[in-house]
Amino acid sequence: MQHIVEQLRLVQQKVSHIITTLGPNWSAAPNIARLITTSESTEPKLYGRDHIMNSIVHDITQGKHSGEVLTVIPIVGPGGIGKTTLAQYVYHSGQVQQYFDVKVWKCVSLNFNANKLIEEIEKYIPKVDGESTTDTAGELIGQRLRNKRFLLVLDDIWDCSSEDEWKRLLVPFKKSQVHSNIILVTTRFQAQSQIMIKKIDHQISLKGLEHEEFMELFLDFIFDDDQSREAQPDLLLETGDKIAQRLKGSPLAAKTVGRLLKTQPDLVHWNRVLESKEWEQIDGKDDDIMPALKLSYDCLPFQLQQCFYYCALFPKDYKFDREELINFWIGLDILHSSRGENKRVEDIGLSHLTRLVGHGFLENEGKNDGSACYIIHDLLHELARKVSSRECLSIESQLNSLQVLPSIRHLSINIDGTSVKDRLTLKGCIYAGFQYIGSEKLRRHCRELIGIVPIVRA
Ligand SMILES: Nc1ncnc2c1ncn2[C@@H]1O[C@H](COP(=O)(O)OP(=O)(O)OP(=O)(O)O)[C@@H](O)[C@H]1O
Ligand SMILES: [Mg+2]
Repeated sequence: MQHIVEQLRLVQQKVSHIITTLGPNWSAAPNIARLITTSESTEPKLYGRDHIMNSIVHDITQGKHSGEVLTVIPIVGPGGIGKTTLAQYVYHSGQVQQYFDVKVWKCVSLNFNANKLIEEIEKYIPKVDGESTTDTAGELIGQRLRNKRFLLVLDDIWDCSSEDEWKRLLVPFKKSQVHSNIILVTTRFQAQSQIMIKKIDHQISLKGLEHEEFMELFLDFIFDDDQSREAQPDLLLETGDKIAQRLKGSPLAAKTVGRLLKTQPDLVHWNRVLESKEWEQIDGKDDDIMPALKLSYDCLPFQLQQCFYYCALFPKDYKFDREELINFWIGLDILHSSRGENKRVEDIGLSHLTRLVGHGFLENEGKNDGSACYIIHDLLHELARKVSSRECLSIESQLNSLQVLPSIRHLSINIDGTSVKDRLTLKGCIYAGFQYIGSEKLRRHCRELIGIVPIVRA
């Protein structure tokens, strides 16, 4: 045992050293990679956004912007408030389908790079006759959209740092000879929105849902139908109302806390939630829903907590393959039968996965190459990183923290843009990352680190 602890201490020192060598421009994983969205919403119903949705659809299809070739409309609001969901519903509305000749959905996320975005967007725009193979992506977009009206959604912009970079992105989209083209943007950040728009009145600030609409959404997450809701005693519903008032109109909080209340629709459980100390952790920001998410996590059974907790080792934009996730848990040795049960470990994993989906911590994203795949909303992923921060560390392309706590037991290294084929091999990941590490000194440290970790698990 002493020998193992000694070895771990050595590993910890090495990792600290690597991080120090990387310098302050690298940052620890929180907020690094982000969930990749598509134009399809997983929500069967859009609650409480009828007015704003109709007004956006009306404005972009009924000529309000007909004087301009291109109008940029940013939707701004805190995480989990429903910006992406609203944009998805706008994108698929009947009028929008009819009005625009070309529609493209692009999830931008971190690392805004105009040239890269132009290249990626070009792939989604239908080709026209007579295209030259030597043209750049920007020129191709210009040609293809010349006589077409288009809608481009840029979802989840984080760091378009300069106006020049933003203008560079717009160049190919301004060549259209048709007016009323629209770029709809979603972002959490007001500063990003200001870089993008000329007229402030184009911005849409998305706030929490109004109480009545919020209650409808909240109660729908808790109860399966109107009958079971109506059968509940008034006191329980009043307690639910009080809990709802703490959720700041956030649909993500409604979903997560709603599912927590659903597990046990009785007054004792709901009062415990209402009186939880977690609500006192609010950091002064009006839109902070982390306490609500943390509370839901705290109430999960221990085994489910563990399964969720270690998901922090994956990057935020990760699509979890069902088998891969279950094998990951098996590898961590966290799947155990209850006393007296004799289940296969794979079945226990599947049951935990299904329960985590039921609690809203993972979402079923349909199928990826024939196999079921799952995602974690980025705020929930932030929560996983928070609760596991003493034990798990993810190193991504930037690091804020230059210290590795002695308590860290799991390290994941996620390297952007590499073609790491074997994700299950940490060694492979690290070696693949070497080519992106500029200094020979640092590469040497990494090799040494691998040398002293004979058995690694990813
Ligand atoms: N109006 C709504 N009706 C029903 N569900 C909603 C609504 N708005 C959002 N949701 C659900 O709430 C969750 C969070 O919404 P969404 O991802 O759209 O938030 P966001 O503002 O884009 O967050 P982020 O800034 O993290 O990207 C999603 O699971 C979504 O399905
Ligand atoms: Mg979003």
